[in-house]
Amino acid sequence: MFGKTVLFSLIFLCYFSPGAFFPGASSAQTLSCSKCHSDIGKGHKYVHPAVNLGCSSCHMPSDGRNHPKDKESIKLRYDMPQLCFQCHKEKKFTGKYVHLPTERAMCMMCHDPHHSDVEDLLRNEPQELCYRCHAKEKFTKKYVHKVALGGCGIRCHNHHASDYPHLLSSDIGDLCIGCHRIQESGSHIVSLPGGKIHPVFWQKDPRNRKKEMTCASCHNPHCSNYRKLFTYKRICNRCHKAY
Ligand code: HEC
Ligand code: HEC
Ligand code: HEC
Ligand code: HEC
Ligand code: HEC
Ligand code: HEC
Ligand code: HEC
Ligand code: HEC
Repeated sequence: MFGKTVLFSLIFLCYFSPGAFFPGASSAQTLSCSKCHSDIGKGHKYVHPAVNLGCSSCHMPSDGRNHPKDKESIKLRYDMPQLCFQCHKEKKFTGKYVHLPTERAMCMMCHDPHHSDVEDLLRNEPQELCYRCHAKEKFTKKYVHKVALGGCGIRCHNHHASDYPHLLSSDIGDLCIGCHRIQESGSHIVSLPGGKIHPVFWQKDPRNRKKEMTCASCHNPHCSNYRKLFTYKRICNRCHKAY
């Protein structure tokens, strides 16, 4: 159930928290926090298990300051995102491509550290969450790819980091073919004489020599104003003069 790191951290906290490592990390302390912060960890569908472990798994008092009277009387145990990596494997948040808000340690733009009514402690419903930073118009044209309606993460994107461009959860070809097996060969594009088949992969895109052709050369993965999610109205003319 728990990742190994989390489990170790749990054991660590349970055994050592009242002692020298985390002075004050006891439930009595949490109780005292809750006296004034009764809203935290309550009245929501999901509570971060870390909150149940105690506020002091993340917060600690600053020496010599009186909370809440003094400014900065409470601080985080570690800077972000190291705080999170005490219990969550850092490796999950690294990759060849890292989502900019993850890279900038802006975990809190998407997550509430305490509680939420949305799964995964998200601040909004998955799709709305993405629209906070990514223009909604780009995903809501006349024809919308049915999978994109279910939320951006469903099978297609990793939210933190990925080894594939555009934070895809796998290679773009494998991704599309995973659901559209018949189109793999490219024989759906046009019938060519002599049983030849129109290329889909491994060819340079004639319009952009730096790119290889993929399904996305012809279809927009999110939405389009043209039928079949075409990237251009007269799709063949994008690469050929004659058709
Ligand atoms: C006597 C009531 C009281 C208790 C007990 C209390 N707080 Fe607070 N706390 C407040 C108030 C009031 C504020 C708002 C202060 C402000 O807005 O400047 C606050 C603000 C905070 C903040 C945000 C502001 C900051 O300084 O970063 C944090 C975090 C916090 N409390 C954590 C805790 C934790 C953890 C505990 C238990 C160790 C705790 N509080 C115990 C009353 C209390
Ligand atoms: C998983 C780590 C974690 C735990 C556990 C945790 N907090 Fe926090 N808390 C944070 C972080 C991170 C922030 C800063 C949020 C931000 O910058 O938006 C924060 C902010 C706050 C704030 C100020 C902003 C707000 O949301 O009101 C208060 C008050 C607070 N925490 C109290 C508590 C109390 C009380 C507990 C225990 C019941 C607790 N926290 C447990 C990580 C934690
Ligand atoms: C003291 C340990 C601890 C710390 C620190 C901690 N977490 Fe967690 N977190 C847990 C545990 C335990 C779980 C439940 C097991 C799991 O999903 O790995 C969890 C689960 C989560 C989940 C999934 C919740 C769900 O509904 O499935 C999110 C999101 C999360 N943590 C975000 C954060 C973020 C962001 C930070 C840093 C601000 C953080 N955590 C810091 C212990 C911690
Ligand atoms: C752009 C929004 C976004 C940002 C930024 C973000 N997350 Fe997430 N996170 C998500 C979404 C969406 C999910 C649920 C789907 C999934 O598992 O990818 C999630 C899931 C999680 C989970 C539970 C699943 C798991 O992999 O264990 C943890 C823990 C977590 N995030 C921690 C973090 C931490 C730590 C940071 C900052 C370093 C962070 N997140 C930054 C959107 C975000
Ligand atoms: C806090 C702001 C923020 C949120 C929220 C956010 N993103 Fe991003 N995202 C960015 C920034 C900044 C970039 C880098 C600039 C760009 O490519 O637009 C980026 C880039 C991306 C990229 C890479 C684009 C490319 O062509 O390489 C993808 C994919 C992506 N985000 C998906 C998501 C998804 C899915 C969500 C919702 C779970 C989401 N983002 C939520 C800020 C955000
Ligand atoms: C998780 C499954 C899934 C993945 C992954 C997926 N699709 Fe789809 N796709 C669908 C479903 C479901 C439909 C709707 C089928 C229907 O309406 O009968 C669809 C429809 C389409 C259509 C036809 C749209 C229309 O208006 O007729 C195209 C084109 C398409 N997908 C291209 C792609 C491309 C390109 C990729 C890779 C970037 C991809 N799909 C990845 C599930 C998926
Ligand atoms: C060179 C352009 C081109 C490429 C590359 C391409 N397609 Fe197509 N796609 C088309 C054309 C043309 C149609 C047929 C539209 C029609 O029925 O008039 C089509 C239709 C589709 C449809 C809808 C089928 C239906 O019955 O409505 C799906 C799904 C689809 N393509 C998926 C893919 C996938 C997956 C890939 C990558 C493996 C891909 N396409 C690569 C041009 C392309
Ligand atoms: C993204 C670019 C792209 C699009 C869009 C595209 N093609 Fe092609 N097409 C190619 C490439 C690359 C070849 C291979 C050319 C070669 O081998 O020299 C090719 C080859 C062909 C051939 C074989 C004869 C030739 O010229 O070599 C025909 C016929 C063809 N395409 C028809 C179409 C039709 C019809 C459409 C629209 C449904 C279309 N193509 C859309 C890139 C594209």
